[in-house]
Amino acid sequence: MLSYRHSFHAGNHADVLKHATLSLLLEKFKQKAKPFCYLDSHSGGGLYDLHDETAQKTGEYIHGIQKLYQHRQDYPELTGYFEAIAHHNSDDQLRYYPGSPEIARLLLRDHDSLQLMELHNTEIENLRNNLGGDERVGIHHRNGFEGLPGILPLPVKRGLALIDPSYELKQDYAAVVKSVKQSIKRWNTGVYAVWYPMLAAERDHSQWLLSQLEALAPKNLLVAELSVEPQAQDFGMHGSGMAIINAPYQLDTQLQALLSKLHQHLDPQQNGEQSVRWIVQPG
Ligand SMILES: C[S@@+](CC[C@H](N)C(=O)[O-])C[C@H]1O[C@@H](n2cnc3c(N)ncnc32)[C@H](O)[C@@H]1O
Repeated sequence: MLSYRHSFHAGNHADVLKHATLSLLLEKFKQKAKPFCYLDSHSGGGLYDLHDETAQKTGEYIHGIQKLYQHRQDYPELTGYFEAIAHHNSDDQLRYYPGSPEIARLLLRDHDSLQLMELHNTEIENLRNNLGGDERVGIHHRNGFEGLPGILPLPVKRGLALIDPSYELKQDYAAVVKSVKQSIKRWNTGVYAVWYPMLAAERDHSQWLLSQLEALAPKNLLVAELSVEPQAQDFGMHGSGMAIINAPYQLDTQLQALLSKLHQHLDPQQNGEQSVRWIVQPG
């Protein structure tokens, strides 16, 4: 039984880091004319109403996208991301927030494609309702950890996979590693972007995850982390990271510039930290 619902967390600081990084990656793919495929192993529902009771209960988006949206003119590199948000909001009021599959759908070109996986019975229905009308999109009601390697190799050579589980279960960390390992065996040129939370010391598995991914990366592994609070002792997510396997050329410098601005706008008191670093250097 899956209990995690992303609507509680849509648009929070972790979503902003994830979706801003995703947008940079998609723009890089679009620099070449050849088609590519976007894969999302844990898609969620695709679009979230920030006024509904789940989002209102936590108010997390207020400290994430709502804070950033007013500074959007400072981010020319994220034009596509902000246009995707504007597409669902008729004025300056932020009511709807697009999830990763919808941001990708709006950024992709006519000859690109999307393969989206989601296991939750309600979320898959939301995903179908929100994205099902687009013929570039394939939607799969299945376990994304198995589904990602299962769908590979693709008919197109170029592609980007986002792996974004809820980490509701501790086993999710090992499941990510297994899924990436099997996927790389079938598709070692793909770009893999793994999101992970940074948690209180006792619950944090981010270092373990990175050490496992380090051993799998065929070419390189780049990590971008942003926290907005100091690490708590017992409970809570103070930040998150994106681990990118086969990171494209110059993504590191772009992410460095991006994260220093994000940190300034999302954490003006500088309670947290940001860093961009190679775990496996490009050869
Ligand atoms: C963090 S949310 C995804 C958010 C989305 N990627 C975005 O950025 O908008 C994680 C999603 O994974 C789904 N999920 C949980 N376990 C799964 C599994 N084994 N396979 C596929 N989806 C799963 C949950 O229902 C939830 O919708």
